[in-house]
Amino acid sequence: MRITRRVGAALVATALLSVAACGGGGGSGSGEGEVEVFTWWAEGSEKEGLDALVGVFEEQNPDLEFVNGAVAGGAGSEAKNVLASRLQTNDPPGTFQAHAGAELTDYIVQDDIEPISDMYEEKGWNELFPEGLLEQLDQDGEIYSVPSNIHRANVVWANPAVLQKAGVDPEATYASLDEWFAALDKVEASGAIPLSIATDWTQVHLLETVLLADLGEEAYNGLWDGSTDWGSAEVTAALEDYAKLLEYTNSDRQSLDWPDATQLVIDGKAGFNVMGDWAEAAFATQDKEFGTDYVTFPVPGTDGVFDFLADSFTMPVGAPNPGATEAWLDTVASAEGQTAFNKAKGSIPANTEADTSDFGPYQQTAIESFQQDAIVSSLAHGAAASVSWLTDITAAVSKFGSTGDVAGLQEGLVSAAEQHLES
Ligand code: GAL
Repeated sequence: MRITRRVGAALVATALLSVAACGGGGGSGSGEGEVEVFTWWAEGSEKEGLDALVGVFEEQNPDLEFVNGAVAGGAGSEAKNVLASRLQTNDPPGTFQAHAGAELTDYIVQDDIEPISDMYEEKGWNELFPEGLLEQLDQDGEIYSVPSNIHRANVVWANPAVLQKAGVDPEATYASLDEWFAALDKVEASGAIPLSIATDWTQVHLLETVLLADLGEEAYNGLWDGSTDWGSAEVTAALEDYAKLLEYTNSDRQSLDWPDATQLVIDGKAGFNVMGDWAEAAFATQDKEFGTDYVTFPVPGTDGVFDFLADSFTMPVGAPNPGATEAWLDTVASAEGQTAFNKAKGSIPANTEADTSDFGPYQQTAIESFQQDAIVSSLAHGAAASVSWLTDITAAVSKFGSTGDVAGLQEGLVSAAEQHLES
């Protein structure tokens, strides 16, 4: 199920074949009435992304009404619980957001979503998306959702003015976490927050990038299939680096969500923030200039790797108005929908026919990296591990935030892996 380097080749090949394709269109989803779209893009720059997609949906479907079912909370921290209880009580929305990969598998196994492989065939969607991404959507030969975007998780966002004041070269990149610690020390000495962070899920997000940096691509991948030992000395060393990084973070982290942590960099109160590239939308909506007001680089030690995740939209079992859901999926799949949505969201289109010529300079770096780099699956965003495994990892990470006990953290991670790799 994991995305491989083939994705890059597939992307280029599909791009070459796509010149003659029209890529737009309202598709054949139809009907009247409404479609409730359940996401966690409730506020700020994320809502602006959703609004851009809704704009295309309304243009393509003047007779349908979009109903916003968004539940606030980064990475679905609240939304996933609300969704789980709605699904349990047979009250599904018209469609819901789910990450490609292991998280999607959860919904498939629980019979929460319908296979839509027939739609893929009818509408030619198999030709629209990179092969490796289709593999992440596939369960036993069936496809269950339509990907709307591709995000990169292993990105550092930095404020050049803060760095300059601290005597750190804003153009520097760092080959390893050790090199980065020296820069973090300087920012700390200058009085700014070295590394901004927010509540539990953002800490899991940081941890995943540290595991990737220290273990490397292959051993990181092995964490998810049992071939890398969570109890190994290599993992201990990575957890020690994670513990060290956490010492550079803001003390009010538990009361913040990602937009607040990223805002500390935007406002010049923090030097660095590790966040997925939905942060790009936060900088862009505040008219910040890439290269001047902010710079980005891969998390030190992860250059050449694209830590991947993709949001996708589903056809729930028992969807109240399936024709309207299909119309939403048509818009999500369309080149027009993907261009509008991804430009505003900071991500890159999953549809290889979508026009990205007008995308900003950060997004051009992501497009290039996705084509060239090794691709691995994000933990914090549903690609690498099931929802229940992620919940257990998050509990261990959260506990560590108050105890600082590295051995305890590792024990928690080992026991979570034992439990979930067996099941
Ligand atoms: C991710 C999601 C992104 C973004 C982010 C922060 O899980 O895939 O689209 O919304 O959470 O909320």
